Amino acid sequence: MTAHDQELRRRAYEEVEKKEHIADSDPHRQHFHIMPPVGLLNDPNGVVYWKGVYHLFFQWQPFQTGHGAKFWGHYTTCDFVSWKREEIALAPSDWFDKNGCYSGSAVVKDDRLYLFYTGNVRDQDGNRETYQCVAVSDDGLTFEKKGVVARLPEGYTAHFRDPKVWEHEGKWYMVIGAQTENMKGQAVLFTSNNLTEWTFLGPITGAGLNGLNDFGYMWECPDLFSLQGSDVLIVSPQGLEADGYRYQNVYQSGYFVGQLDYEKTGLMHAAFTELDQGFDFYAPQTLEDDQGRRILFAWMAVPDQDEKYHPTKDYHWIHCMTLPRQLTLSGEKLIQQPLPELKAMRKNGQEVQINMYGSSGTLPVENPERAEILIEDIDTESGFEIDIRATATFSFRKEEGLITLERTSFDGTKTEARHCRISNLHTVHMFIDASSVEVFINHGEEVFSARYFPFPGNDQVTARSNGRSEMKVGIWTLM
Ligand code: FRU
Repeated sequence: MTAHDQELRRRAYEEVEKKEHIADSDPHRQHFHIMPPVGLLNDPNGVVYWKGVYHLFFQWQPFQTGHGAKFWGHYTTCDFVSWKREEIALAPSDWFDKNGCYSGSAVVKDDRLYLFYTGNVRDQDGNRETYQCVAVSDDGLTFEKKGVVARLPEGYTAHFRDPKVWEHEGKWYMVIGAQTENMKGQAVLFTSNNLTEWTFLGPITGAGLNGLNDFGYMWECPDLFSLQGSDVLIVSPQGLEADGYRYQNVYQSGYFVGQLDYEKTGLMHAAFTELDQGFDFYAPQTLEDDQGRRILFAWMAVPDQDEKYHPTKDYHWIHCMTLPRQLTLSGEKLIQQPLPELKAMRKNGQEVQINMYGSSGTLPVENPERAEILIEDIDTESGFEIDIRATATFSFRKEEGLITLERTSFDGTKTEARHCRISNLHTVHMFIDASSVEVFINHGEEVFSARYFPFPGNDQVTARSNGRSEMKVGIWTLM
């Protein structure tokens, strides 16, 4: 480790030391979501299962609640309930990553953990350069940078980043998010026999392929994996126009289901589907564990959206991860369910039957700053609403088959909404933390994720129905 690297780490830890107690005093500090100790957190990185431990690295800016030269922070867990913050994995200290150790992934080979990431560099004139880099570890905790392993191929701008690596039939593959010189988004593929020498194979989809000529000007954070016999490409495209209820956020995250032809380097796939219907979801990344489960984490925010108004910045921190979700495929649709391990957080369970006839009532939520609410056996004439701490409202309008999540905007000036259609609502599963709501609908057919910032002390969770609505409600306090 160079002296400069040590100095950056020392300064980052000093920042944590100085400000963590302020962050921890924030009433909007989360109870069961991954957050930065201080500073800014964005993408999940290097998610991997190794020797009984799940590793979740993250894009981290320790010095401010804005973006900049990112570090890789690091958390580990064995059970998804108690997490440990580990030493900084990567600091932006070298010529090839001096303006940020940007997003990437982890793989295990021969009992060593390899981190692949993008070295973000600005030259003297401020022009961007991009390098795909690797760092190696024997213990999963300390990493030795090995430098650049792949360079920018011709035909692309320097918006070329976020390597996700996997093994297929004895060879290694790396998918990267790219922008063509014509300013269009693509996912491109590299291959390697040894993880150190990489050959560029070409684009697998995006601009010019699969009929996707105008599908954004940049694709970030691709992830490609096989699931139940199909290949799934998750990607975060930038530059899609809003289209009805779709693409309402500044940038999107979604997936294509198809088959990757490794010989011809092409992914034939069906249409793009957004992963989350809420306000705050981006740059998801998945791992496969020893049980063969495909587990997803995402950043619970969207770049260039609302960051200005997050009240947590006054307490020197911003952003968090989503809860981990298990992915399965149903036809060409990804189903996302909260990991079963999360049930270990449940305390003081209650079960109530709610029968409303044009009425409203308070749900007996012991602590709405850390609650799980599972609504089942829904039988409703025209629909119903659940109002959470007067800051977010979940509603179902049966006639239109419409689900809506509303929240007070972060600047406090308006109510904003996200919607999706559903044919038949039978289950609503909510995880409510101090400043977030995640709603899983019909066992993961759709999910809404949103940050929200309720006024401390405003603690009511209320159900309301115009006509008749009956449902069974399970309620727990978490942790
Ligand atoms: C996505 C992203 C990535 C990049 C990282 C930088 O949120 O822009 O493309 O690697 O964040 O922090």
